[in-house]
Amino acid sequence: MASITKESLESKIKSILISEQEIQNAVVRAGEYINALYDGKPILLVSILKGAFIFMADVLRTVTVPCEIDFMVAKSYYSGTVSSGMVQITLDLTHDVKDYHIVILEDIVDTGRTLHDVVGLLKERNPLSLHVITLLDKPDRRVVEYTPDLSLFTIPDLFVIGYGLDYDEYYRNLPYIAEYGE
Ligand code: IMP
Ligand code: MG
Repeated sequence: MASITKESLESKIKSILISEQEIQNAVVRAGEYINALYDGKPILLVSILKGAFIFMADVLRTVTVPCEIDFMVAKSYYSGTVSSGMVQITLDLTHDVKDYHIVILEDIVDTGRTLHDVVGLLKERNPLSLHVITLLDKPDRRVVEYTPDLSLFTIPDLFVIGYGLDYDEYYRNLPYIAEYGE
């Protein structure tokens, strides 16, 4: 395998799709949505790792309602053409969600499998309410029917990197969202 260098990584950043400033404006919109929706009620912000950790850190600082945070790592397994899979939680929440209004923060909705399954699983635990905010949405790629409550950017069917999103674990540190490619 060729060794990874700064130059080899940079050569695959095709174009900037969403600037740092546009992301920050969207983060403010996410915070306004949460603050209006919950109007002072205590909430649990849940981020799905790893991709959504930067989005979570930024949205958290715009939230003015009483707020706790938690994290989960989830992978969905589907076989053939089935429209519902099995979600494997490799890191689970530390909170008992039945006492909380949950807001899930996700980096991107692609096939819809992860959120479809995570939302199904968390609803079985009877939270007071559950809403999902995604930074990015690729509706053209949907395999499982799933619509987030708030989607900040709808993008075409491209592979994107930056602001927490990776290709092969690299590029999470970019402050903008870019298209990845040769
Ligand atoms: P799903 O296909 O909707 O279940 O999305 C699963 C996960 O794939 C997302 O949470 C992302 O972590 C990852 N993913 C999907 N599309 C992209 C992309 O364009 N760039 C980086 N990660 C992606
Ligand atoms: Mg993700």
